[in-house]
Amino acid sequence: MSFYKIEGGAALQGSIDVHGAKNAALPILAATILNNGISVIHNCPDLSDIESIITILRSLGCRVTRDGGLVTVDSSGFTSADIPLEFMKQTRSSTIFAGALLARTKRAFIAGSGGCCIGKRPIDLHLMGFKALGADVSFRPDGILCRAPHICPCKIHLDFPSVGATENLMLASSLTPGLTVISNAAKEPEICNLADYLRSIGVGIKGDGTSEIYIKGTCSPSDGEVTVIADRIVAATYAACVACAGGRVDVRGASPSLLSPVVATLRRMGMTIECRNDGFVVEKSSRCINLPYLCTGPYPALPTDCQPLIVAAMTTSYGFGAISEKIFENRMAHCKRLCDMGADISVSGRTAMVRGAERLHGAAVDASDLRCGAALVAAALGAEGTSFVSGVHYIDRGYENLCTALKSVGANIERIE
Ligand code: UD1
Repeated sequence: MSFYKIEGGAALQGSIDVHGAKNAALPILAATILNNGISVIHNCPDLSDIESIITILRSLGCRVTRDGGLVTVDSSGFTSADIPLEFMKQTRSSTIFAGALLARTKRAFIAGSGGCCIGKRPIDLHLMGFKALGADVSFRPDGILCRAPHICPCKIHLDFPSVGATENLMLASSLTPGLTVISNAAKEPEICNLADYLRSIGVGIKGDGTSEIYIKGTCSPSDGEVTVIADRIVAATYAACVACAGGRVDVRGASPSLLSPVVATLRRMGMTIECRNDGFVVEKSSRCINLPYLCTGPYPALPTDCQPLIVAAMTTSYGFGAISEKIFENRMAHCKRLCDMGADISVSGRTAMVRGAERLHGAAVDASDLRCGAALVAAALGAEGTSFVSGVHYIDRGYENLCTALKSVGANIERIE
């Protein structure tokens, strides 16, 4: 089983390029089954979650090739509507095929999908939206079958601005002429990136990036092309690594405007961040201070995916701070592991209360989900002594060559297979 061996204490110096966003690439790849032709996707990250989605596309009859960050999908050979169960279980993101399959084949079967254990992660909002679009949804012992002989354009209100539900409903309504409106939609930049792809195949979309999205489907989708945006959570991870280990790093390729709550939080904690259009330089020149109260929320609030990273930075900042998790109900697993490294954290419900220690110490810790793993790596970079971070397969789901990138800025990190 792979793990990272990290010798803490080296300040980070240099520059790192940020790869394409996993959470943008996944729905775009699922969307490629909507057209009957070629989709060209630039800056597609090479991650295990992306590989799982590509495997699903191939199982559906699509031809997929990769040349570096360039992925080409030819969906003219699309033959089958059923995703093999073993592939569906590999990644929770397989749920994102439901909307595209409903649009393309009028039928989608959803079975227990894998992914990180950070909460119950229901899909009731996806199903409510499918029903509003005219789908018949039936629960079976082995999964959920959605059938929609006729998708009817309509107005759908989401009780919560779910990212996945917004994406699935955009996909489900993309091939239906007439106007579908999603209100209280998610506003995440990844939604806008999916809209960019859908526009490229001829779907009329307006309002993406706001809470009301208007979709005018097309009966004759064309070939499509899109560039995946940079991964804002990966960019935030590098900033958190500097917050833990110290130093100065130029994080290149990710627009800081997509990261404003993270940039604002780290600045308030005492970090220096100089922003450019396509990146930022992050520097820690003295010990950070903890902030009395932070909380996560839907975009443009502090992303839930950054909460474990901020907690890692808080563990050695001066004074007492608290952060509440408002999106997922079970996203505090990193706290116990950080305590094993000498952190002083108490968790009450969804709130972590952190009293900053002078320094953490190395320990053997296991990542229990993707961002928990990233937070442990960040913390280990600043800790005294050697840490062993296992559960690397979770980290591989969202970070391309994390070890190489961190090594390039002076971290003493090794991946041991
Ligand atoms: C996506 C991201 C994930 C990120 C999250 C929130 C991908 C592949 N994953 O996940 O990294 O942390 O957005 O920014 O893009 N909910 C319901 N019913 C539903 C759907 C969601 O109650 O039908 C709840 C969820 O349980 C959760 C909250 O809404 O508590 C947010 O979920 P959602 O925005 O849907 O996140 P994901 O799309 O799963």
